Amino acid sequence: MGFSSSSSGFPSFYLVLLFLVGTSIVSADFYNEFDITWGNGRGKILNGDLLTLSLDNSSGSGFESRNEYMFGKIDMQLKLVAGNSAGTVTAYYLSSKGSNWDEIDFEFLGNLSGDPYILHTNVFSQGKGNREQQFYLWFDPTADFHTYSILWNPKSIVFSVDGTPIREFKNAESNGVPFPKDQPMRIHSSLWNADDWATRGGLVKTDWSKAPFTASYRNFKADACVVSSGKSSCGGSDNPAWLSEELDNTKQERLRWAQKNYMIYNYCSDSKRFPQGFPPECKSA
Ligand SMILES: *[C@@H]1O[C@H](CO)[C@@H](O)[C@H](O)[C@H]1NC(C)=O
Ligand SMILES: *[C@@H]1O[C@H](CO)[C@@H](O)[C@H](O)[C@H]1NC(C)=O
Repeated sequence: MGFSSSSSGFPSFYLVLLFLVGTSIVSADFYNEFDITWGNGRGKILNGDLLTLSLDNSSGSGFESRNEYMFGKIDMQLKLVAGNSAGTVTAYYLSSKGSNWDEIDFEFLGNLSGDPYILHTNVFSQGKGNREQQFYLWFDPTADFHTYSILWNPKSIVFSVDGTPIREFKNAESNGVPFPKDQPMRIHSSLWNADDWATRGGLVKTDWSKAPFTASYRNFKADACVVSSGKSSCGGSDNPAWLSEELDNTKQERLRWAQKNYMIYNYCSDSKRFPQGFPPECKSA
């Protein structure tokens, strides 16, 4: 159902208007929001409210958002590759372009049936990453859809899972750490083979007899500022609440709970990797 094909006249004009005004509130139509960018038919949008990516022995697949965003609160529900997903990686991230790009990453590293996925996160600013934190999840991410969210505003970046914050990357520009805040980013996702490193560091290879591997997406929702031709538009509001949102006490407690019980790697405590001292943002991360 595309608006471009609807007949002209008053009602459809209001429909379009309603759609534009409502776009930051209702879960949006995948046909309008995303393009399948690679995979030669392995990525599919079904009915506008469901998108699937698949991977087999000749290719993975991926999509990206039509919009570029600069700050936002973005939710997506994902259901990951089930069964033996070892070797597969489902990446879901925001990224700008160029050699000094910014990036906010969720990557889901598959595993053998019954063994836990790893949720890998990273933040790049001006082309520099190396800020990995990894988690196990408190549920089976292949059994059902769960919501993975990124809150990105000038003060911080918060990664959440079903509303529970798992990671906060604060703006530490005052300590000389560049923060992503000058380059609009698109949403990207891809499903690909990474059996050289993903599962137990590359020990477990992809079992191609289980292909195709499929990940599914639904209920995309963006409260976000869309940048187009140099102009930013924040869903009808000049100063939406999420643009200055910070973690309240309850959320901070949830964050500590997730990190205490589910974090399995934190670059900020990997002293072998940083013998000269931790990166400056680790003081606040
Ligand atoms: C890829 O998978 C197909 C279908 O299972 C199989 O017929 C084909 O031989 C495989 N190709 C390679 C290069 O493994
Ligand atoms: C896979 O399972 C093994 C064994 O439980 C675990 O060590 C590993 O962290 C799991 N995840 C990945 C992506 O390797």
